[in-house]
Amino acid sequence: MEKSYLKLIENNKKWVKEQLKNDPKFFTDLANGQTPEYLWIGCSDSRVPANEITGTKPGEVFVHRNIANMVVHSDMNLLSVLSYAVEVLKVKHIIVCGHYGCGGVIAAMGTKQYGLIDNWLRHIKDVYRFHYLELDAIKDETQRARRFVEVNVMEQVRDLSKTSIVQNAWSNDQPLHVHGWVYDLNDGLIKDLGVTFTCTKDLHAVYHLDEKL
Ligand code: CO
Repeated sequence: MEKSYLKLIENNKKWVKEQLKNDPKFFTDLANGQTPEYLWIGCSDSRVPANEITGTKPGEVFVHRNIANMVVHSDMNLLSVLSYAVEVLKVKHIIVCGHYGCGGVIAAMGTKQYGLIDNWLRHIKDVYRFHYLELDAIKDETQRARRFVEVNVMEQVRDLSKTSIVQNAWSNDQPLHVHGWVYDLNDGLIKDLGVTFTCTKDLHAVYHLDEKL
């Protein structure tokens, strides 16, 4: 088998040299701890790397990625990342960043069976059902998929705002904004969907959580 992975180790050595050339304290500073201002919830897709596309450095963004940037409220991984980011790191912004051409979203639009992943895609299909009137009306499949990516991000922003973790931060007057963005693979640009949540007021009352007794 081709040992293509070896180039990663080589690249790492080059990268270390480069960083030290620019800043001899680069690693010693980072080893002291992290104070990122942002939590990024993005897609696992290899074409959407959080740091590269936002021009941020190690230490600046706390990252969680999964297929189709989902906020599933029974996902221990997501909840643990969210809890640590909000309660310990006290990030100021949470960014859900989807991307056009998302394989997870496109698969969720179809009827093909893929195996275990169908259970994950079900969460995305549920988003389609919430928005089916708008989505079914878009006849062009590519355009429909693009809009589905956008409404999926909006739902994940909403789902973050429904969590006790985010709501407790708000009731403690901790500054925390939840943003919804979409990255375009075709031109590399990020679009802000303008669906930022900063408090519970835009959520249906049934999701409002009082402070813990
Ligand atoms: Co994707």
